[in-house]
Amino acid sequence: MTADGGATWARREYHAGMGTYPTVPLAEIELSGPEVWMQGNEYREAAFATLRREAPVRFFKEYEIPNWPTGPGYWALTRYDDIVEASRRPDIFCSGQGTNITDLPQEISEFFGSMISMDDPKHARLRGLVQKGFTPRMVAQVEQYVHDKARLLVDQALERHPDRSCDFVETFAASLPLQIICEMMGIPPEDEARVFAWTNVILGAGDPDYGGTFEALMQASVEMYEYAHALGEQRRDHPRDDITSALMQAELDGQRLTTQEFGSFFILLVVAGNETTRNAISHGMKALTDFPEQRRTWWDDFQRHQRNAVEEIVRWSTPVISFRRTATQDTEMRGVPIRAGDKVVYWFNSANRDEERFEDPQRFDIRRSPNAHLGFGGGGPHFCLGASLARREISVMFDEIRRRLPTMEVTGAPAMLQSNFIHGIKSMPCAW
Ligand code: HEM
Repeated sequence: MTADGGATWARREYHAGMGTYPTVPLAEIELSGPEVWMQGNEYREAAFATLRREAPVRFFKEYEIPNWPTGPGYWALTRYDDIVEASRRPDIFCSGQGTNITDLPQEISEFFGSMISMDDPKHARLRGLVQKGFTPRMVAQVEQYVHDKARLLVDQALERHPDRSCDFVETFAASLPLQIICEMMGIPPEDEARVFAWTNVILGAGDPDYGGTFEALMQASVEMYEYAHALGEQRRDHPRDDITSALMQAELDGQRLTTQEFGSFFILLVVAGNETTRNAISHGMKALTDFPEQRRTWWDDFQRHQRNAVEEIVRWSTPVISFRRTATQDTEMRGVPIRAGDKVVYWFNSANRDEERFEDPQRFDIRRSPNAHLGFGGGGPHFCLGASLARREISVMFDEIRRRLPTMEVTGAPAMLQSNFIHGIKSMPCAW
């Protein structure tokens, strides 16, 4: 959730984020407020470069949201190595006290209180229940389905857009991940549009285009939760071959999941599985348009570059910008004291541009290897459960585009989501 609580943030310009950019003075940088996120990509890249260089562990106040208690502030980690180190010490940097920068009200936390905001052993037990559905082997099993869906999307695009232009996000990027996760969860196709609208409101909570308000967030959460409840009950009585049935049948310490546990789990899976991959695909298409020589290289030998290209798209786009932890004890990072109870925020976007880790990090290079980016997290227990699935989806979508719409390119500026959590593209014109 973003922290602007309905404040009107001006729309950001989209820049490719390459080349030289002016230095942003440290004193000017304010990560909590909308300013840095309203600026173009170049400004943001420069601001994070300053932080990495001059203050890699820096304290920020929290943004004041009207009618919302202002939190105590947080430490921002912006260096790759620090985020990896902290991610692998969940005993010191825990998730159980919240993973959004802003503390969410109790009634909202309950809806999102799934494993991403839990610590082991509870987290490990819940994750153990669902992870069987996401192993590379299981992903290989849905592979054909992913191909079929991607093919169908291109068929529909050709049929519905005889003028050979459309909105890329709606037509390609958003549909594929949504259909795949709905299929895996057993959500019928006729309900997909509703699920899509809820996930937009939940992850776009700070953006006026998606409702923007606390009430809208609350309403979408309740509706999705009730939907999950009904689907869960149905599958408990009439199991099918889907993740919902597996979860409703599974036992955790001799007990079934409660409806509340299932509801939160459902929301997490659907939201996490949808919005992230769709943004990776959209940013990928934009990057392949901005850097045509990279596209040529990939298209010329798709299989050979596929693995590296997908990793580079995830590094380049970093669809999940940040996640928060809370210190469980007094500790320090680069000599900066952090007290028990302090919030600590991992800025994955910055780690993925860390000059000490990536050669020429502002260059989009589909051949980049090694490419141990932190787009799926810094390692540790919360590493993205859906990484294998996301990689397959991105790869299959671009394979389909390459084969059938090889000249496709982005033809106008993307409309960016206003968020310091999700690096989102709401819409983006394309033509082929
Ligand atoms: C390009 C697409 C994706 C990106 C960039 C992404 C990114 C992330 C990140 C950064 C985290 C947190 C890692 C941490 O705190 O250490 C995460 C966790 C998670 N992701 Fe993804 N994700 C993507 C796709 C997916 C998909 C397709 C699914 C499932 C269908 C999924 C399900 C999850 C879940 C369940 C968690 C929580 C894991 C836990 O707490 O144990 N993600 N993801």
